[in-house]
Amino acid sequence: MIDAQQIKDLDAKYVVHTYNRSSFVLERGEGVWLYDTDGKQYLDFGTGIAVNALGYGHPAIVQAITEQLGKLAHVSNLYHTIPQAQLAQMLVEASFADKVYFCNSGAESVEAAIKFARKWARTHYGEHKTEFISMTNAFHGRTMGSLALTPRDHYQDPFRPLMPGARLATYNDLASVEALMDDKVCAVIVEPLQGEGGIHTATPEFLEGLRRLCDANGSLLIFDEVQCGLGRTGTLWAYEHSGVTPDLMTLAKPIGGGLPMGVTFMTQAVADTIEPGDHGSTFAANAVVASAAKAVFTTIADPAFLSHVRWAGSYLEAGLLKLQEEHDCIVEVRGRGLIWGVECDRPVGPALASATDQGLLVLNAGSNVLRLLPPLIVEQEHLDKALDSLNKAFGAL
Ligand SMILES: Cc1ncc(COP(=O)(O)O)c(C=O)c1O
Repeated sequence: MIDAQQIKDLDAKYVVHTYNRSSFVLERGEGVWLYDTDGKQYLDFGTGIAVNALGYGHPAIVQAITEQLGKLAHVSNLYHTIPQAQLAQMLVEASFADKVYFCNSGAESVEAAIKFARKWARTHYGEHKTEFISMTNAFHGRTMGSLALTPRDHYQDPFRPLMPGARLATYNDLASVEALMDDKVCAVIVEPLQGEGGIHTATPEFLEGLRRLCDANGSLLIFDEVQCGLGRTGTLWAYEHSGVTPDLMTLAKPIGGGLPMGVTFMTQAVADTIEPGDHGSTFAANAVVASAAKAVFTTIADPAFLSHVRWAGSYLEAGLLKLQEEHDCIVEVRGRGLIWGVECDRPVGPALASATDQGLLVLNAGSNVLRLLPPLIVEQEHLDKALDSLNKAFGAL
């Protein structure tokens, strides 16, 4: 048997300390379950932070990766590959977009959106139009561009100066955006449903208003669906709940089936301003990752699959609302589909620890919000088990 302490000692000695990790070492996964090196089983309602939408070892992903690996893994983006072109067609035909740009992570997909928005604005309006509006509680990543649009002092302060020209409006407050709009603003970026920021949903009126303001001001609208996209909210794209479409959209976490992939979607008008050399990535959407993504996309985009997500989401919502009735510490239950936040009147750390002890992995989103991101393949028995563990966990708060 592998000695968990030995692994943790290696990590402490050789890996720079950017994460506070769990006390156990995960060794394998199967469906909705994870197993640590001591053989303890965990029901995974964190899914590697919204990545493992189809759970662990999904046969369609395993088959796609292994078949492609035997044929061709990586050739760089100097060459065409079959899976990448086919994946692009799938993503475009199922969305508002006319073109996609591939990269390797959420932050990279935001970084590309920033550059493409700047290029579009410079092409059409000149050099002055370089600024961005982002929202309170937003999370767009930790690269220098995306960090400037992620308004949190403890992420930003150690790394100042940031990319200049980032303005901050209030989520779901259209007047606050309007007050910041002028001819220097090249784009507004917003998560249709904020994940890291505590599970807040944008109202359709807010997104409609942003669309109107951007159109009137000659600015682009960027939706960040890195966490809430691809089936997580019960529709393929989170923006579908509002009927509003953006000019650019970012996607990452679930699309690669556990392999790294980010995607920046755009309209033809944006794509028309991009030329060879403007942006690029050595690894992006190589043949193996793109094959995995094709399998993930085909599975999730199936209307019957999305209908299962909506059913599971309603079941989970009802269970969480019942827990709210039973536990005074729960202030609010909010979310959609299979992304939920349970806000408490105190830090949720002890509830997370209790859930882990009981074999349920969950996340937080800020100190007082417990976040649930179950695999989209969850069945009733898993939801019941999770709700039972959460009942005990909130009892321990
Ligand atoms: C909405 C959103 N955008 C961007 C990111 C950054 O993604 P990554 O960690 O893959 O760089 C995240 C990560 O949590 C996110 O939730």
